[in-house]
Amino acid sequence: MIYIAPSILAADYAALGNDVRKVGNADLLHVDIMDGHFVPNLSFGPDVTRAVNGVTEQFLDMHLMIEEPERWFEAYIDAGGDRLVFHVEATDDHVAAGRQIRELGAQSGFAIKPGTSVEPYLDDLEHFDEVMVMSVEPGFGGQKFMPEVLGKVLTLRDHINERGLDTLIGIDGGIGAGTIAEAAAAGVDAFVAGSAVFGADNPAEAVDNLRRLAAEARES
Ligand code: DX5
Ligand code: ZN
Repeated sequence: MIYIAPSILAADYAALGNDVRKVGNADLLHVDIMDGHFVPNLSFGPDVTRAVNGVTEQFLDMHLMIEEPERWFEAYIDAGGDRLVFHVEATDDHVAAGRQIRELGAQSGFAIKPGTSVEPYLDDLEHFDEVMVMSVEPGFGGQKFMPEVLGKVLTLRDHINERGLDTLIGIDGGIGAGTIAEAAAAGVDAFVAGSAVFGADNPAEAVDNLRRLAAEARES
């Protein structure tokens, strides 16, 4: 299954509800939370998350680019987050964090920056519903895709298939019509796209187009 996840970081904040409704055909929504410490940028918090959740039935994938993520799990689940994806670089105990999220009733995930290797985490995947491989340095939309991270996707795909796990592989950063096929061919399931969706004249059409390109690349 292929999931296209528009990142509302690239939406028009003065018309956020409107932009969210434009991508009602997307499989889920990607909500980027930045604290100005873990990454050098600020985005939004639980209140905006709650407002978004109020205008859509869509699944909210929360990308927590924040320090001490554990302090915020409850707040983001309460605000409507369906899956919480924290950064392994921001915690000392990723397994405990994953357990904590599931105990609170949400799906769990972790993200890794481009420079973080995936090997140390492979034995712990059963605690996570998603692993998100960053294909840009987290903090800003509209950056260039880093194809060198696809080696991590291949490693994850092999490992997940061999062990029969159902952990999803996500990719985040620089995904668009020109890059989605190579990510899909490497074995990505969930594709985050910010500027490629909300920068398009017709965001819904952009979502369908990305899904088609990914499906074709997965099949070939
Ligand atoms: C970057 C964010 C991404 C961002 C992707 O730190 O995590 O989710 O919105 O934006 P694009 O698709 O424009 O690279
Ligand atoms: Zn993100």
